[in-house]
This record gives sequence, structure tokens and C-alpha cells, in this order.
Amino acid sequence: MSGPTIPGAATAAFTEAYGTEPAGLWAAPGRVNLIGEHTDYNDGFVLPFALPQRTVAAVGPAPDGRWSVCSTLAPDPVTFGVTEPGEVTGWGAYVAGVVWALRDAGFEVPPVRIALASDVPLGSGLSSSAALESAVLTALIDLGGLDVPLERRPALAQRAENVYVGAPTGILDQSASIRCRKDRALFLDCRSYRIEQIPFDLAAEGLAILVINSNAPHQHVDGEYGERRKSCEAAAAALGVPALRDVSTAELDGALRRLDDDVLRRRARHIVTENQRVLDTVSLLRSGRVREIGPLLTASHASMRDDFEITVDQVDVAVQSALEAGAYGARMTGGGFGGCVLALIDADRAEATAAAVASAYQKRGFTAPTSWVAVAGPGAARL
Ligand code: GLA
Repeated sequence: MSGPTIPGAATAAFTEAYGTEPAGLWAAPGRVNLIGEHTDYNDGFVLPFALPQRTVAAVGPAPDGRWSVCSTLAPDPVTFGVTEPGEVTGWGAYVAGVVWALRDAGFEVPPVRIALASDVPLGSGLSSSAALESAVLTALIDLGGLDVPLERRPALAQRAENVYVGAPTGILDQSASIRCRKDRALFLDCRSYRIEQIPFDLAAEGLAILVINSNAPHQHVDGEYGERRKSCEAAAAALGVPALRDVSTAELDGALRRLDDDVLRRRARHIVTENQRVLDTVSLLRSGRVREIGPLLTASHASMRDDFEITVDQVDVAVQSALEAGAYGARMTGGGFGGCVLALIDADRAEATAAAVASAYQKRGFTAPTSWVAVAGPGAARL
């Protein structure tokens, strides 16, 4: 490997910007969601695991009593004092938002200087923003000696993103970045925040998850993501339930008959069936029947493509060509409109599968995809 490591790059950026050594390093990972897409803001179920790719924050006390943050991509620090939503914009808002959310919850947040480095691909649906928020949140909690239990942390980072940044996202990404563990998938009930760490050591089964970045641009801060969320809320309201989580698959046909709008019907059907697919996936993983989750992954993709309408040609082609190359199952992961696909494959088929997808892309004139095998890594922590 050439070039500095991510912790090394964060430390160097800190020293360069502030002329002193950081007090410590904190890291938080990106994630892939194995299954359970757009279910989080419907009070439903998700099953992410943490990527080995992570964001590292080098952090030290700030003598001027303000907060400063820079990164390897933006070496000139953004500096702010006690802050309210709307004041800091651009990427610095994710950091200012975390400071604001902690203060708004009544915590005394230590003024710090931060330098960031990351190998989480940006704008690829792998939660680079949650990795950033979670690394900064964990550093502030540790350095300030703040009493914030692990189970409260994702909602604070989510608040930074919802209120300060203004993106109407659910709690999936921050939960994954903060609560995932190595060799485990995180089964999360997004209503109760109850979690279960599900064993997910695929190598022991001779299997692997291939992540294929479609390299198609991905964007959900406004527009389509917010539209999907509104449709789900409208469907729940029309059905007289607090959230689509409250509709079971047994009740689905009856519920669909009571919705008079075809778009709402399809959005609701995705959420209700997707929640069930998460539960079925968890049952299979609990009993060690890993290969059998393949058809659930593929069915999830079809539901996102046909009912929720959040896929694009590049991700559909990646799924199709991975399946034709022998994958047990494949689906888009993340918010949609580009981003990444994951495929469950025999471990020795990684190169062949990646090559099959690359060749399908070439035939269609798409930008080349980037593929790698993802192993479930640890959640946010001090290094
Ligand atoms: C984005 C959001 C999450 C979740 C996913 C879709 O990653 O940030 O809250 O809604 O999309 O599952």
C-alpha cells in the first residue's frame, strides 16, 4: 500500500492546520445495509453491517473556545462558536450540527480543533456523512467526559443531520456507524431502538459480500428521498396507523385495497414486504442458513426497482450481471438513485463476478464500476 494510512493522514492534517499534535484519534465506519431499505423512517427493521472503510477525526482542545474543523480535502479550517441551525453550511454543517445537537440536549461540549481523513467513498450511498458525524460525536463525548450512553448516540447524530443539515434521513446510518460490531450484522428495530448483534462471519461459510460501486452519481438530501418519505407517511395516515411498520404482510392485501392511489399502494407494498424480508433474513442468519438469504436480497431489489422506484440502470445492470455470474442474491444498498450494489457470492467468485459486472457496464457505455469484498468491521471508537 502506498501513501499514508487514514489515521496518519488525519494526524498530518491536524499538525499542518493547527501547528500542534492532536490529543487523540477517533474513527467511525461507513456501512452497507444488508437488507431493509427505507424502512427506518417507517419505524421498521434494518440489518446493516459496518465497512472497514472509515472516517478518522484527529482532535485536540481549542484554546480560543471555538470549534474548528478541516480535512484532507479542505485544509483551511471552518471555525464557528456556539451555533444554531442555518449558520454553518456546506460540509462543516455536519460537524457544527453535532456540536449543536449535543448542546441542545443539555451537554457541555468541549471546544476542539478537528482534522478529518476518510476512505469511505463520498456520495456512494455508504454513509460517509454518518461516519463523519459519528467520529466527531464520539470524540466530543470522550474528550468532554459526557455521560451519553451508546443507545442515545445515533439519535443525536441523526438530529444533527435532520435539523442542522436539513436532510430528512432516518436512523439507519448513524446506528450502523456507532453500534455495529466486527463480524456481526446489526438487527435494529427503528421504533424501539432495540438491537441484536447477528453473527455474520461469511468467510467461515466460504461466502463473501461483493460491494459494487456503480459510480453513478447519488443524491438524496432533497428531492426524491423526501418524496418517498412523504408518500410513506401519507399511506400510513390513509390507513390510520402510526407508521407502515404497523401493517403486517397478512394485512397487506386489505390495506392496499383501501389506498386509492397507485403510487401510494406501491410505496406501501415495498415497505411492508421489506420489513418482512428483514425478519426472514434474520431468522435464516440466526440458524446459520446464510446462502438461503440470497433470494430475499434479490426480491428486495425487485421491490426497490418496481414498487419504490429508487434504482437506476447502472444498479439494475449490476444486480442482473452479478446474478448471471452465479451470485446467490444481489440488491442495491442505501438510499438509491445510484450508489452501490451488494452481491452474496462464493468467496472464490469475487474476481469473476466483478469482471462480469465490469464487462456488462462496458457494453452499455457506463462509467466503470469499482468492486471489493466487504468484511463486517467495528463501530465508532477511539483508536
Ligand atoms: C439513506 C438514509 C437512511 C435510510 C436509507 C435507505 O441512507 O440516510 O436513513 O433511509 O437511505 O434505507
